[in-house]
Amino acid sequence: MSSRLSSPNIQLNELGKLHHFLTLEGLKAHHLTEILDTTESFINPNTNEIKKVPLLRGKSIMNLFFEPSTRTRTTFEIAEKRLSADVSSLDIQTSATKKGESLLDTLWNLQAMQADMFVIRHAQSGAAQFFAQHVAPHVHVLNAGDGQHAHPSQAMLDMFTIRKHKGDIFDLKVAIVGDVLHSRVVRSQIQALSILEAREIRVVGPKTLMPEYPEALGVHVYHDMDEGIQDVDVIIMVRLQNERMTSALIPSEKEFFKLYGLTETRLALAKPDAIVMHPGPINRGVEIESAVADGPQSVILEQVTYGIAVRMAIMSIIMSNAAQLSQHHAEQTSQQTQEQDAKETS
Ligand code: CP
Repeated sequence: MSSRLSSPNIQLNELGKLHHFLTLEGLKAHHLTEILDTTESFINPNTNEIKKVPLLRGKSIMNLFFEPSTRTRTTFEIAEKRLSADVSSLDIQTSATKKGESLLDTLWNLQAMQADMFVIRHAQSGAAQFFAQHVAPHVHVLNAGDGQHAHPSQAMLDMFTIRKHKGDIFDLKVAIVGDVLHSRVVRSQIQALSILEAREIRVVGPKTLMPEYPEALGVHVYHDMDEGIQDVDVIIMVRLQNERMTSALIPSEKEFFKLYGLTETRLALAKPDAIVMHPGPINRGVEIESAVADGPQSVILEQVTYGIAVRMAIMSIIMSNAAQLSQHHAEQTSQQTQEQDAKETS
């Protein structure tokens, strides 16, 4: 599957608008801004309540989580219901996958149940793109995290949370700290911050957990945490992804916390009004101490809440784009018919 990762733009339709949502790679600032602005429209500014709207009434959405999830799966399900869609979530543990049914056969059978949209999380990088290449043209695929490749809706809810607290991302210094190497979230966050032209993107972690970044990407790498978070506006902590490590890459969790754990003392090195983020799940005492995770600068639980509205925005934009494309095709057909009629008359 991973050989197909080099063509992210299968997610755009012929009008250059989102048809699937697989990765942020290759998207433009206007695609991301549309998601952020649409998210805003779903949140009541006075109460922060997320509205229920009829935008996806009659549409069928299927959630396929082949990997565990608490936040992404639940917020997608809530978002789908707030959009008034019909929602099904396949329980992989009790599905025919356990009898050896292939991913493609699973897809085609579920599509035969008249799915309009699939939300998929899978351990294999490229799984969502593979799905997108095999669904019917009118069906949409959203990536809820594939291997180490991408987690684009997480990155968008992170950008929304940053924008809510800090305004324009353009002015900000952002440090991402922890197991950068194995994190699909970090890949997507870097893409989002880069597209939105953040002033400075820093990644902080040990050499063993740091990928090579092409110079052109403009990412600043730090192995010393105190230097890496000095004077930043935003600190994003990410957990050790033990499930993706094939060998021991750090001496111990205790040692990791000593060098890279976010403590109140360390947090004081960032700007006084810096916000602390984490995509979850958090490991208290490994990458972050409880006093910080639960402290006044933490926006970790707000990220979770905004995840509902951001996912509503992504799904509603995709369905609206599909309607716009149908309209475009209808207008083209009508114009061709008129031209043909005119030719026959003359
Ligand atoms: N942030 C995130 O992807 O969390 P879950 O694994 O709980 O979905």
